[in-house]
Amino acid sequence: MKKIIIAIDGFSSCGKSTMAKDLAKEIGYIYIDSGAMYRAVTLYCLEHNLFNADGSIRESELKSRMKDIRITFRLNPETQLPMTFLNGTNVEERIRTLEVSSHVSPVAALGFVRQAMVEQQQAMGKEKGIVMDGRDIGTAVFPQAELKIFVTASARIRAQRRYDELKAKGQDVSFEDILKNVEERDRIDQTREISPLRKADDAILLDNSRMTVNEQKEWLKERFNEAANE
Ligand code: CDP
Repeated sequence: MKKIIIAIDGFSSCGKSTMAKDLAKEIGYIYIDSGAMYRAVTLYCLEHNLFNADGSIRESELKSRMKDIRITFRLNPETQLPMTFLNGTNVEERIRTLEVSSHVSPVAALGFVRQAMVEQQQAMGKEKGIVMDGRDIGTAVFPQAELKIFVTASARIRAQRRYDELKAKGQDVSFEDILKNVEERDRIDQTREISPLRKADDAILLDNSRMTVNEQKEWLKERFNEAANE
């Protein structure tokens, strides 16, 4: 069985990270959530007042500070899942709020932000044996990935899944706000100029609207076995 790169792209809140994490754990691969990196940059912007009142970003200020933004991952010793660190501080919880979700897509559309993140992501995949999820992994980060999956589900189903997840964490959110955020992020992610969200020609399409977590896990493992044994 050869060591491969697995790229999982798709729309917001479609369960990419759940399936990517589960697979990585089972096959002993490294899991990288590339969205967490864009979320961490966004949290930095929120905490350093880099947004104007109208929601636009102070681009030149962010650009000059990019060298001060260091994003790393460390494994949680109990769950064996990666936690996101921003300049040495664990921000895993704070990057998952609706406030960060509402600001992340314009930040992720900036060329200099993408360039910095993609460089780090490519370095992480040098040795292969990695599962990475995001928006441009199969198209821009690892166009040579041996297995590419593109995940989608209806916007309402995705919003419901995110709503349940945030509620379970005790966050006070409304379903309508989440649905609006999911649709707005999809719009910005698909229409941005640099590396827009799109299915790579050689990616396998998965609509998981009617699949359980277990069914999609099994489905992905079969795809992995096929790709790694090729
Ligand atoms: O968890 P969810 O699918 O809702 O989003 P995420 O994977 O955490 O990504 C958050 C945001 O980061 C996305 O809406 C994109 O704007 C951006 N992103 C990106 O541009 N490129 C990636 N490879 C990953 C995320």
